[in-house]
Amino acid sequence: MSTLQQEINKRRTFGIISHPDAGKTTLTEKLLLFGGAIQTAGAVKSNKIKKSATSDFMEIEKQRGISVATSVMGFEYKDKKINILDTPGHKDFAEDTYRTLTAVDSAIVVIDVAKGVEEQTEKLVKVCRMRETPIIVFINKLDREGKDGFDLLDEIEQKLGLTVCPLSWPIGMGQRFQGVYNIYEQSLVLFRAHGKQTEEEVMKFTDLDDPELDAIVGEAAAEELREEVTMIDEVYPKFDQDAYLNGDLSPVFFGSAINNFGVKEMLDCFVEIAPTPLPRSTEERQVDPFEDKFSGFVFKIHANMDPKHRDRIAFLRVCSGTFERNTNYLHVRQKRKLKFSNPTTFMASRKEVVDAAYPGDVVGLYDSGNFKIGDSLTSGETLNFQGIPSFSPEQFRYVDNADPMKQKQMQKGLLQLMDEGVAQLFTRYSNNRKIIGTVGALQFDVIQYRLKEEYGATVRYEPLNMHKACWLSYETEAIFKDFMSRRKNDLAKDKDGHWVFLAQSEWMLKMARENHPEMQFHFTSEF
Ligand code: G4P
Repeated sequence: MSTLQQEINKRRTFGIISHPDAGKTTLTEKLLLFGGAIQTAGAVKSNKIKKSATSDFMEIEKQRGISVATSVMGFEYKDKKINILDTPGHKDFAEDTYRTLTAVDSAIVVIDVAKGVEEQTEKLVKVCRMRETPIIVFINKLDREGKDGFDLLDEIEQKLGLTVCPLSWPIGMGQRFQGVYNIYEQSLVLFRAHGKQTEEEVMKFTDLDDPELDAIVGEAAAEELREEVTMIDEVYPKFDQDAYLNGDLSPVFFGSAINNFGVKEMLDCFVEIAPTPLPRSTEERQVDPFEDKFSGFVFKIHANMDPKHRDRIAFLRVCSGTFERNTNYLHVRQKRKLKFSNPTTFMASRKEVVDAAYPGDVVGLYDSGNFKIGDSLTSGETLNFQGIPSFSPEQFRYVDNADPMKQKQMQKGLLQLMDEGVAQLFTRYSNNRKIIGTVGALQFDVIQYRLKEEYGATVRYEPLNMHKACWLSYETEAIFKDFMSRRKNDLAKDKDGHWVFLAQSEWMLKMARENHPEMQFHFTSEF
């Protein structure tokens, strides 16, 4: 096997997603501890953009700055090279998360046992499902009282649309939490609060009727476990790796991240079943990771808000071949060659210069403004990666230049910020005014602040009551012309000149759909 093949087969690149507070950061940290990437708990805490509670964007940006180093956390475990792509926890940065999910090969969803499926979980899983990303579910905080296991599985199936298959099952919860039965490996793992799990606490239990089980967990708990495992056997599909890899079946694990409990079981299963770097579609053709020629795409751009360091880092996912330092590559959109003398890789919280990176890896490229989200870099071939769409914003405002002397700066700044993916810019058809669309309100402050600081421009916002922007598709130009003549006021163009429909409310969107069945409305720019 060639080095390239070996390197690709070793890699597992995934993202952890959750509603804020479910335990994503804690779980990430435990995984890094297992991988030996960090030595002490608490080391990753800084990557946490603290929750919806804060609306101080400077504070959040500061934390985002720190989080550059933890944007990608690489570590080795059982001969596998694992890359965790970090996603911001703050809901206003949800679009960053959506985009990061375009660069993973699989995902782990963390759910709080007491809260069940929450809003952000639903949105993020939807994005994964668009791309048929294989998903593992980790139900967290079993050391606390929460929902009944079966009710939770129902909720996951209904709200997330996942078909589940429990691979571990809890014995009690909260005060009565005794451990988990690992269905996948037929072993019992006993819970010790805050204890590091040792081999002795894992017991093989191929036969749940073994009276030893009663002796260990008590008769009542043993009986309950037997009944529940029998029920799981009858009700849920057996684990099937192909179904998981196709995104059709999601294994579920139970545990308590903070107590490092149930995490190892999941990680051991993950390294066995999770996909190696997958082929990617481009407008031109399918790209296989094993191809010799290098290709990759930019899925995230991080700007440094420190005025003394105006550089940006573009995060590139390697899709095929080997990326090498100081080698000329084609920047497909700009049709010119670029080479990188200091590409960085990320091993936990360390940043290092890399000489070579392989499919599944993410490299950070120092950039002075050449990259846009979605840009491709290749050994020479023209390839435009697909599957990095824009998502419909949820908040909209008109943006106007407030300083006539700085019109040019404002335009330049606005376009650059849009290239970074801070927000989306639309031009309304009826009045030619610019509209900024974002997922969260925070971005409006970020844009205003950065335009001032970095470009010397001042903007004013005007509220705009809008629900969604939907990209449009239609069979013929005549159909669109007719639609346009009736809905002039509701149309705008996105940054690439594509038509979007501005829906003022969910009801208006519903009406538009009903009245114009010949038009299709999409929540993403790729469909
Ligand atoms: P997030 O990244 O998904 O937002 O969640 P994070 O890991 O920060 O966890 C949110 C809170 O839940 C933290 O408490 C964390 O300690 C707690 N937590 C995580 N896993 C478990 C668990 O298995 N059991 C219990 N009982 N709690 C858990 P916090 O008070 O918000 O923060 P901190 O003061 O502990 O840092």
